[in-house]
Amino acid sequence: MNSDDRLARYNRTRVLVTGGAGFVGSSLATRLVGLGAEVTVLDDLTTGLEELVPRGVKAFVHGSVEDPETLDPLVAGSDYVFHLAARVLASSTKDIRSDYRVNIGGTLNILLAARDLGPKAPPVVYTSTTSVYGNPRALPITEDEPTNILSPYAASKFAAESYCRAFVEMYELPIVMVRYSNVYGPHQSPRNPYCGVVSKFLEAGLEGRPMCIHGTGLQTRDFTYIDDAVTATLLAALVPRALGEVFNVGSGVETNVRQLAGLIAGLMPGQPPVEFIDRRDIDNVSRRVVNIEKARRTLRWVPETSLERGLAATLQWLESSKRAGQRATASQA
Ligand SMILES: NC(=O)c1ccc[n+]([C@@H]2O[C@H](COP(=O)([O-])OP(=O)(O)OC[C@H]3O[C@@H](n4cnc5c(N)ncnc54)[C@H](O)[C@@H]3O)[C@@H](O)[C@H]2O)c1
Repeated sequence: MNSDDRLARYNRTRVLVTGGAGFVGSSLATRLVGLGAEVTVLDDLTTGLEELVPRGVKAFVHGSVEDPETLDPLVAGSDYVFHLAARVLASSTKDIRSDYRVNIGGTLNILLAARDLGPKAPPVVYTSTTSVYGNPRALPITEDEPTNILSPYAASKFAAESYCRAFVEMYELPIVMVRYSNVYGPHQSPRNPYCGVVSKFLEAGLEGRPMCIHGTGLQTRDFTYIDDAVTATLLAALVPRALGEVFNVGSGVETNVRQLAGLIAGLMPGQPPVEFIDRRDIDNVSRRVVNIEKARRTLRWVPETSLERGLAATLQWLESSKRAGQRATASQA
């Protein structure tokens, strides 16, 4: 049975997606709507955009995971909960107190709401990050690698994971954790100052600006295409053996930032130049590539999109969204 057949189980289920106006959350919500699920999105629009919430959702709730009065009835009315709302890496570093309140406090609110439902608690998928591995001892990184916390963001995301584990142990809640690695793809807006390197490079290339590399560019990452990350996340809630477990979600391929810039330059007619600029304080992880064997075995999931194909699809989306933006500006003029 392929993953599409398995995902058909979401048809007519009630699903809550927190952070569903964000990059990954909106793609997840879109896939769920396509599968026939009744989707509710909860988002406070700090980095998310309402226009990213798919039209077919049952409800969009403009609110915060920090607020149990909003959250509790939404969790109680759901068959599945996907918890993506968070202050992400760069925004978290700008305001560490709000990262603490949202990433830890917001997750705790979800867990308490689920616990209060007892045996009726829906499966909850918590989206964590491979940032919790910091600079690992061995590559590719398995889920057994000790954590090495190098940023407030990694600290809060791991603290929330720890709460998830505690609630699995004490209350037998059906929770799964997925650790994403550098997700990229359509709808990751380069306009968002906190977005990832792929969108920034693609936009710079399209505008004929240099692609700015922080530091040497020899730092490596494991770039994961959005559709693959969404499929893994959806499967995680459906596999009984996955409950209580943590899974790396990546491509299993190590790519350095210079190589990424080279691949992107190859997609552009004008071969945009590269410029080396100062290393940022958040760029303190030198190498990252994850082992995805556990997800392959347990979730029966494998990433299907090569970096080359994913970059081409992302470029196509960026070009068409730019053209749509230009048409809108022209029609207003
Ligand atoms: N994109 C990646 O490469 C990546 C990597 C590792 C982990 N993750 C995790 O995946 C999840 C989604 O990340 P993303 O890349 O889509 O980021 P994003 O910033 O696009 O999405 C986060 C969403 O959460 C919303 N949000 C923030 N605070 C909130 C609050 N208090 N209440 C309700 N909504 C709130 C934001 O408005 C936004 O829509 C996050 O939990 C992030 O930690 C992402």
